[in-house]
Amino acid sequence: MSDSVGIIGAYSNEARSFEPSAAFRAQARLGRLEDYQRLYRESLDSPETFWARETAELSFRSPPRRIVSGGFEDARWFEGATLNVTESCLDRHLTTSADKAALIWEGEPGEVRRLSYAELHAQVVTLARALRSLGVRAGDRVVIYMGMVPETVIAMLACARVGAPHSVVFGGFAADALRERIRDSGARVVLTQDGAWRRGKVVELKRTVDEALSTLPEVEHVVVYERLGPRHAPIQLQPGRDLTWQELHGGEASGAPEIVGADHPLFVLYTSGSTGKPKGVVHSTAGYLAAVHVSTRYVFDLKPEDVFWCTADVGWVTGHSYLVYGPLSNGATCVMYEGAPNQPDWGRFWQLIERHRVSILYTAPTAIRAFIRQGPEHVQRADLSSLRLLGSVGEPINPEAWIWYYETVGQSRCPIVDTWWQTETGSILLTTLPGVHAARPGSAGLPFFGAEPAIVRVDGSPVGAQESGLLTMKRAWPGMLAGVWGDPARYHAQYFAPIPGHYFSGDGAHQDADGYYRVVGRIDDVLNVAGHRIGTAEVESALVSHPAVAEAAAVGRPDELKGQALVVFVCLKPSHAPGPALAAELGEHVAREIGRFAKPDDVRFAEALPKTRSGKIMRRFLKDLVAGQAPRGDTSTLEDLNVLVQLQQAEE
Ligand code: WTA
Repeated sequence: MSDSVGIIGAYSNEARSFEPSAAFRAQARLGRLEDYQRLYRESLDSPETFWARETAELSFRSPPRRIVSGGFEDARWFEGATLNVTESCLDRHLTTSADKAALIWEGEPGEVRRLSYAELHAQVVTLARALRSLGVRAGDRVVIYMGMVPETVIAMLACARVGAPHSVVFGGFAADALRERIRDSGARVVLTQDGAWRRGKVVELKRTVDEALSTLPEVEHVVVYERLGPRHAPIQLQPGRDLTWQELHGGEASGAPEIVGADHPLFVLYTSGSTGKPKGVVHSTAGYLAAVHVSTRYVFDLKPEDVFWCTADVGWVTGHSYLVYGPLSNGATCVMYEGAPNQPDWGRFWQLIERHRVSILYTAPTAIRAFIRQGPEHVQRADLSSLRLLGSVGEPINPEAWIWYYETVGQSRCPIVDTWWQTETGSILLTTLPGVHAARPGSAGLPFFGAEPAIVRVDGSPVGAQESGLLTMKRAWPGMLAGVWGDPARYHAQYFAPIPGHYFSGDGAHQDADGYYRVVGRIDDVLNVAGHRIGTAEVESALVSHPAVAEAAAVGRPDELKGQALVVFVCLKPSHAPGPALAAELGEHVAREIGRFAKPDDVRFAEALPKTRSGKIMRRFLKDLVAGQAPRGDTSTLEDLNVLVQLQQAEE
């Protein structure tokens, strides 16, 4: 497609609906609507029966006394159970599929590594012993700041093996953001690598760790996996603190799984909220495992022979749930790719699919839109006959991109599942089931087992037919976050206080006449730029940390490629003058503070920012302004109407 106009926008294909083929239906785990309806009802009416049966193959050392107990906010799943997730993800497959590939990895330069379940298990046990020998004990947090290499998966599982909640920090975060996450989590051990390949360039992960730790003496050990070696990524090892992965040894320590209670925290994953600093979303062991296990099996119609490729980075929740825990607990073969989709050219993804006979591809709308721009030839050159199912995640998918994905990648043969969920939900909550439901471009679909969504108005009352409102959940589900690390008040305030009796997602949605949910995007101050969740507050605080900036406001602008582009308004201190050089410098400053993925697309200068009488920045007006719309709503609360007028004039 040469012309990108119209990639985002009108829901022109709203009426179209795509039924799974008879052939897909015939081989699907679930192929009849009645089966979905029966299981869905059971998951709500008899969760005990449903979840006990659906998780029967998982490894519990002692079975749960109850499947679900407690209230909504403090729901407890699988109470009384004891387990270690690595027994479900690794040990249990050793008797049946020890030699089956667990991971097929491709480095950006092209090398391929295959790790069987037996090999993955052995490596996890080795690292678990080494972690114990460093003094890591159950409950200790370990930060993982790595790229897309098998060792990152090994690191996550080794932490789980010893009962140490991992906190993976996406390798694109800059030193300050990394430091803040290490500090908040209280981790004493950081696992990293020398460098990673990204678009033919080296990302110096260890160097960023050094910078982050320069003011964080609490960290006792840094373990460095040498992915690139000294020629590409020379590193400095700080004596007494740093050692290489290769020189780790377990000593006398055991690699046996730490058997923990159902509620034991499995990981902490930081994500942006509508206010303040990023929150450490906590997921506990048994409920999360059950949720990702069952959703992977049904949503992706997973079969033993499938080769599953989730393109998400392990640093985000999609990588946690559908690159690591869900597929491995099901004994699947997972593909993992280190680098960029256009390296060495835009055919890389499709060649990867051909080479490894990928049958299920799970990726993000931003990637699809980037491929559309490059034209279909790259896709058409590869043999994609192994593909049988496609998935989308992370942001609303516009129907045009959906149709392209369906026709060009899926060759009008593969069903698409558009899966809605969040870091907090742990697992997919809205989707179609590929053998059961017709898919509608732009619509996530129906509730997954155990999810009871409700679209409500701000006062909590249900919206009328097809009216837009806030997307909430009316009851607890097994993958629901267990809390916000170190901040129980925030857990309540963020998710349960806004709409009493509901979990508040922060998204807006409406329901079509046939019950399909259409998620339109965030309604709070969280931006979704190229599928990356970015808090306006984080960007603003990065900007005001620059000596020239007095005040700043960040908003999203609709963007053809990224879904949203990041636009910032900056008021300078009197001693500084606006100009292109300063705009560029401020953009770089944000990239240095947070990470390149959060670099503003557009830096604008303003005399003042529109505010309410109480001093709150009215981002809504700025959002309308950058979208080229007249400001909507009541302007009487503006402190200084002139401000808005000036901004508009500057715009014109
Ligand atoms: C958005 C990613 C529309 C949504 C799994 C949500 C989506 C946020 C979809 C969570 C989808 C995710 N359709 N919007 N299929 N999937 N979102 O925590 O705004 O990184 O609140 O989790 O992404 O982003 P997060």
